[in-house]
Amino acid sequence: MTATLRLLFLAIVLAMCVASGASGQIQPAALTPSALRVGYLRCEYLVSPLAVDEPKPRLSWELAAMDVRSRGLAQAAYQILVADSPEALAKDHGTLWDSTRVADHKTSQVEYAGKPLATGQQAWWKVRVWEAKSPEQASGWSEVATWKVGLLNRASWGDARWIGDAAAPPKEGLDPLPAPALRKAFSVSGENGLRVTGATAYITAMGLYELRLNGKRVGGDGGNVLAPEWTDYTKRVQYQAYDVTWLVKKGENCAGVILGDGWYAGKVGLSGIVPKGPERAIYGRQPRVLVKIDLRMSDGTAQSIVSDGSWRSTIEGPIVASDLLDGETYDARREMPGWDATGFDDSKWTAAKEVEAPAAAVLTQPNEPVKVMRELAAVNMTEPSPGVYIFDMGQNMVGWCRAKLSGRTGTTVTIRHAEVLNADGTMYTANLRKASQTDRYTFGDKTEAVFEPRFTYHGFRYVEVTGLASKPAPDAITGRVVNSSSPEVGDFMCSDAMLNRLWQNILWTQRSNLIGVPTDCPQRDERCGWMGDILAFAPTACFNMDMAAFLTKWIPDTRNAQAADGRFPDFAPHPYGPDTRFSGVPAWGDAGVFVPWAAYQFYGDTRIIADQYDAAVRWIEYIHFKNPSPDLLWKNSRGNDYGDWLNADTLKLAGWPTKGAEVPKEVFATMFFFRSTQIVSEMARVLSKPDDTKKYADLAAAIKDAFIKAYVRSDGTMEGDTQAGYALALHFGLIPKELEAAATARMVERFKPYNGQISTGFHSTLPLMAQLSARGHNDAAYRLVLNRKMPSWGYEVDHGATTIWERWDGWVEGRGFQDPGMNSFSHYAIGAVGEWMYSTMLGIQADSPGFETVLFRPRPGPGLTWAKGSYRSIRGPITSAWQRVDTGIRFTVSLPPGVSGRVLLPTSDPSKATLDPATMLEQGVKADIAGVEDGSVVYRLGSGVYVFFVKP
Ligand code: BGC
Repeated sequence: MTATLRLLFLAIVLAMCVASGASGQIQPAALTPSALRVGYLRCEYLVSPLAVDEPKPRLSWELAAMDVRSRGLAQAAYQILVADSPEALAKDHGTLWDSTRVADHKTSQVEYAGKPLATGQQAWWKVRVWEAKSPEQASGWSEVATWKVGLLNRASWGDARWIGDAAAPPKEGLDPLPAPALRKAFSVSGENGLRVTGATAYITAMGLYELRLNGKRVGGDGGNVLAPEWTDYTKRVQYQAYDVTWLVKKGENCAGVILGDGWYAGKVGLSGIVPKGPERAIYGRQPRVLVKIDLRMSDGTAQSIVSDGSWRSTIEGPIVASDLLDGETYDARREMPGWDATGFDDSKWTAAKEVEAPAAAVLTQPNEPVKVMRELAAVNMTEPSPGVYIFDMGQNMVGWCRAKLSGRTGTTVTIRHAEVLNADGTMYTANLRKASQTDRYTFGDKTEAVFEPRFTYHGFRYVEVTGLASKPAPDAITGRVVNSSSPEVGDFMCSDAMLNRLWQNILWTQRSNLIGVPTDCPQRDERCGWMGDILAFAPTACFNMDMAAFLTKWIPDTRNAQAADGRFPDFAPHPYGPDTRFSGVPAWGDAGVFVPWAAYQFYGDTRIIADQYDAAVRWIEYIHFKNPSPDLLWKNSRGNDYGDWLNADTLKLAGWPTKGAEVPKEVFATMFFFRSTQIVSEMARVLSKPDDTKKYADLAAAIKDAFIKAYVRSDGTMEGDTQAGYALALHFGLIPKELEAAATARMVERFKPYNGQISTGFHSTLPLMAQLSARGHNDAAYRLVLNRKMPSWGYEVDHGATTIWERWDGWVEGRGFQDPGMNSFSHYAIGAVGEWMYSTMLGIQADSPGFETVLFRPRPGPGLTWAKGSYRSIRGPITSAWQRVDTGIRFTVSLPPGVSGRVLLPTSDPSKATLDPATMLEQGVKADIAGVEDGSVVYRLGSGVYVFFVKP
């Protein structure tokens, strides 16, 4: 198949997926004469969520063409029906809301405007649309979706109390305590014939929990692990809701909960390193839980089971110790068979202890839960010394293992995890620092066991197992890959195998670092929501995965961690006192402005920026206060001042320059002060705040003037004279128009000391790639991305990388590992080149927020014969592909209904850029040539698939 045909095929498949909606059932096409179908209904970015706290939740859907060959389709109007029962909805009775026909092209961020909904109430909804060219013809109704209102306030939790085990922890030390198990036997009463027609469990914990009902895990195998995830537990904690109807029965039942220390009571990233703090129990010493299970009976009555002092508790269970960083210790001799089901004798257990409710707000979880997303089989097993078995999972991953073990009663198997191996084939663990990521299993009566930890996670490719009675089978270890279940929405492939692996590595690194919080790395004793890292990576992250719900959860973490004086933290959550330290750093704190802005660009979500606006203003005002007009250079108060982190001055290579790569810190900081101020002005414009729009636009202009005066010379050279400095200044628009060409030339000139190699750090790498491509040096950008010499992405891939390294020179042939004090092999910042792959190689760019309009500007470069990919935007799939053919380049792009766009083709000669006449897609509907812009022939496009041909 040619790339074009493959793309067409992809477009058809995607169109079918969209039309089939979330549950995968195809709608009867014959009933819908409209040109459009509606699918993928979501509420607050989630598919049929069970606990929505928003009184006016926002609804969205996707459109697909009935005929994939059609073009220029748009939604002229929609109608939403919301009902209090599926039966009413089936009769088209919008008992809660009938929007009636609304003339609007919106397909997302549509606020519910019906009757107010009460705690626990369920709403069923569907939508239909009218296509612009046939406004009299409605589409068929979409499939039915639903949402349930969560527990809106403290009173909604009824008599539920926070409970935990009553045993007091030892006075000395903070070692992990055994995981408490709590249980409650309860009976569901009622007349003969009465049934449980609905059951919802609401639960949260200070710590981590696993909820069980009648012997089964709520959430299923691998569902909602590490819940309730990490927030600032002094301010807010998330609860989860589960439909447990199938687990509860009339008569005798039993609920059980196991609690782990987690972020609340265990080690948290940096807790052993940031001075003055304890190593564990940062938020509290003992985990606690809050549960309410609501039952609805067939006669309309309701019953609730709540956590309180009537629950029974023990710390004699098999999880002897658990810690997110250190691992889990399990002693099967302490198992309590049947403890989570009816009929268990808990008379030796103690009464659970009711504790005072924490001050934190208890809020619904807005992001997709952390889950076991996939499994990996080991690809190899070695035995570097007798009885030491090392499994290679073939992929640097995050999660844990399911281990099939055999051994003798009372003996212990030790399972260690590492990202890389030493040259002699043994585990390299020095870079884990103080995170031991070791699980231990002690055999009880059964000498064959399947073990899987619950309350820890590890970053690893290699698994070392010792203490077994005999040589394990090659399939003894299964990797359970764990991450936030944000939908994966991006795709990329090209004619170069190394680049394809690089793209995979970027995606894997993202998976590995989305654990409710966007972390820096998943393996060493860090794993914090480092702000600078996500600032650099956010656009790539959004191309790879639908981050809307994830960011809806995490952006409030940045507010919770903002210091009283307006400093954003270096990482969020910030458990170590944002008012005192690890706050206020250029390009780290700025994530509190950049990341919500990226979310707005990708999802058109004004609520995210409205909620963040005051915090963003306080950040700008803080910097301004410390660096007042007229100077306006960010000279003062830069906190830990990391600068353009891990730029090439940090490389340890023979003959490599040790100076000349790093942007001077003051210059770097001032650039971010400018860009954040400019974004705040833009936010104010979107939020209709004219005074602030002007105020911050003026301030940004003044910072720019000050910047140019201080750091940009009349010949276009800059203070520091670094590749990175020019790249960032050009990227942020800080170079006067008339000097841009000179600054670009100098940026390229600065490759010389590095033999043509890259020398950028976390924050300048993407800007460098983007600016090279945009300013006449696309060939140079391709040369860099395809380079295989150190430092380069290609070098990592050639040397076995399956995730992105923290440092360009994490490992070097002949030299070995970089400083183990900071050398992760799974750090996404340098993977921000993914944004360039989508937006420059494929040329997919949002031309307006939420991809309502799209700018295609694909830039083929030397070394590749084709590239193709897609991004499933909030409005549906957008695809782009190009392929070199004998007499030129063929471009294929597609847009979903409701989206229009422009394509800029790489020629300025209109006679050389044509809609491809040789393709079957030429159906008489033409794209309009709009002229020549910025050296490129421009076509205007509506929805549909278009093939263009550009002669050399
Ligand atoms: C982290 C980084 C982070 C940095 C601050 C490191 O230890 O791993 O990714 O941004 O500290 O400079």
